[in-house]
Amino acid sequence: MENPWKTVSLDDYESHMALGSVRQLQTLNEIMKRQLNAFPARNVMILGVAGGNGLEHIDPKKYNTVYGVDVNPDYLREVEKRYTALDGVLKCLCADCTNIRAIADVTGLPHAELVIADLLIEYIGYDCFKRVLRQVAPRYVSCVIQVDSGEGFVSDSPYLHSFDCLDSVHRSIGAEKLANELETIGYKQSAVREHPLPNGKKLTEIDFYGE
Ligand SMILES: C[S@@+](CC[C@H](N)C(=O)[O-])C[C@H]1O[C@@H](n2cnc3c(N)ncnc32)[C@H](O)[C@@H]1O
Repeated sequence: MENPWKTVSLDDYESHMALGSVRQLQTLNEIMKRQLNAFPARNVMILGVAGGNGLEHIDPKKYNTVYGVDVNPDYLREVEKRYTALDGVLKCLCADCTNIRAIADVTGLPHAELVIADLLIEYIGYDCFKRVLRQVAPRYVSCVIQVDSGEGFVSDSPYLHSFDCLDSVHRSIGAEKLANELETIGYKQSAVREHPLPNGKKLTEIDFYGE
């Protein structure tokens, strides 16, 4: 089955996320600013980079390489157009994170010291996320998951039906379960931050470090 994210237009995704009643684009932008500056890493891999929200916070003096990974090649083309200032630093990689089936299975994902995965684990699940981490072997991991308020994972909006196709790949992720899963591959939780949203939903930002 083709990944349904390949059929969601970036314009619909970003317009929905930026709505005043949703405010996820703005909240994720602030979170990304912190994530990019909180760790002593010289390179970073952003999984599920979409249109590159938050990449304007990259300091090319701090980072020598920034990998932007996504399954949708159209999103990556847009990221390259938007962030020409990061030429030579930003490397976009089109990869499906669910295609990594074993530790040694190579999707082309290289090593990075820091992995950022905001609202991605919901679409690949715990096991694939662990396989990606085992392959990329970062020292630090920072991720965001959405905590549902019971009214569905996509907030009500004029764009709602653009996301119907995602039902087949979406699953709920719990902060405690995620910490337990990552502990089995040697990552310890170091911080948790809650970000309430206007519609009663909440984003949970969690940091881990490899032992
Ligand atoms: C909910 S969006 C999050 C985007 C961005 N991180 C943010 O916080 O706004 C999920 C992103 O992950 C990408 N994605 C979903 N499944 C994926 C997979 N299996 N492999 C790689 N990228 C995937 C989608 O194309 C989309 O850009």
